[in-house]
Amino acid sequence: MKTGLKFLWNDLDLDVRAQEPLAPHTTFKVGGPAEWFIRPRTVEAFADAYRRANEQDLPVRFLGGGTNLLVSDAGVRGVVFQFHGGMFEKIDFTRNGPVAGPAAPTPKLAWQGVKRRMSGFEGLAGVPGSIGGAVAMNAGGKYGEIGPLLRSLTVVERDGTFRDMEDEPILAYEYRHGPLEGRPVVEIRFKDLPDGGEEVERRWKEVIEYRRRTQPVSSKCAGCAFKNPPGHSAGKLIDEAGLKGKRVGGIVVSPVHGNFLVNEGAGTADDVRRLIGEIREEVRRRFDVDLETELQMWGF
Ligand code: EPU
Repeated sequence: MKTGLKFLWNDLDLDVRAQEPLAPHTTFKVGGPAEWFIRPRTVEAFADAYRRANEQDLPVRFLGGGTNLLVSDAGVRGVVFQFHGGMFEKIDFTRNGPVAGPAAPTPKLAWQGVKRRMSGFEGLAGVPGSIGGAVAMNAGGKYGEIGPLLRSLTVVERDGTFRDMEDEPILAYEYRHGPLEGRPVVEIRFKDLPDGGEEVERRWKEVIEYRRRTQPVSSKCAGCAFKNPPGHSAGKLIDEAGLKGKRVGGIVVSPVHGNFLVNEGAGTADDVRRLIGEIREEVRRRFDVDLETELQMWGF
């Protein structure tokens, strides 16, 4: 089967790796390998490879910056695509608004927007990872999220065709739920956002400074583990339940912010899974609130 699959890719312009460990591609630094890990060199090669993978009914996943991701210790079957380098990282400020490739780093694009005083980019202050991942998650923070900034997207359908999405339900988003519904996005076009004056940079700096103070920004972790339930802060509930510092194996609830799980070095994905279970159980018992994970979980 494996060698058969190798022939699926070998005429395409791709960097293909078998059994690639995924832990180094995530900020959590846990988890096993991808059966196939593919970095396309062109968007056309990607569309062909994606179509072929779908024709073979292989499980397909997209890895962005790996900043909000937990991969199981056993890893994942099928294909993990990652856009990387070259045109996939482009950032252009055009007359119609900013245009980015899916692998463009969110902090880089957002900061360039903020420097131009473009109102809305301050909402991405402190958001790590790639723009493609941010769109998939509808990432954001205190001053907003990426969804409302979008003008149009180019996505690739399962049959390898490109589709431009503009003013359609595809641009629908909710709190931490983006518009892609599993589709790969290959170009992201932003609105020509209005000049927000000095307030834009002031808010950006305020959030960056706030996050430095209140989040374990330099630890091995994956951002907030849970979504905020309506009307609550997950971090505050976890804190009030006395769970800060709670540990399973090498994973500990951050003493700085209750919604961050930190890998102290030797943690495993299974430690994370068990700690998540214990947190959910205790928060349900104490406050009758169900916490839903924000972390993307692969292979569980
Ligand atoms: N709080 C506590 N104890 C804690 C953590 C928080 O009492 O351990 C309190 C804070 O003092 C504050 C309230 O809870 O009064 C809310 O906390 P915070 O301001 O830190 O915001 P958050 O709701 O926990 C959200 C996003 C973050 C984003 C920050 C700042 C979610 C799940 N989290 O956190 O996003 O950085 O606002 O904009 O929406 C992420 O999604 O990965 C993420 C880090």
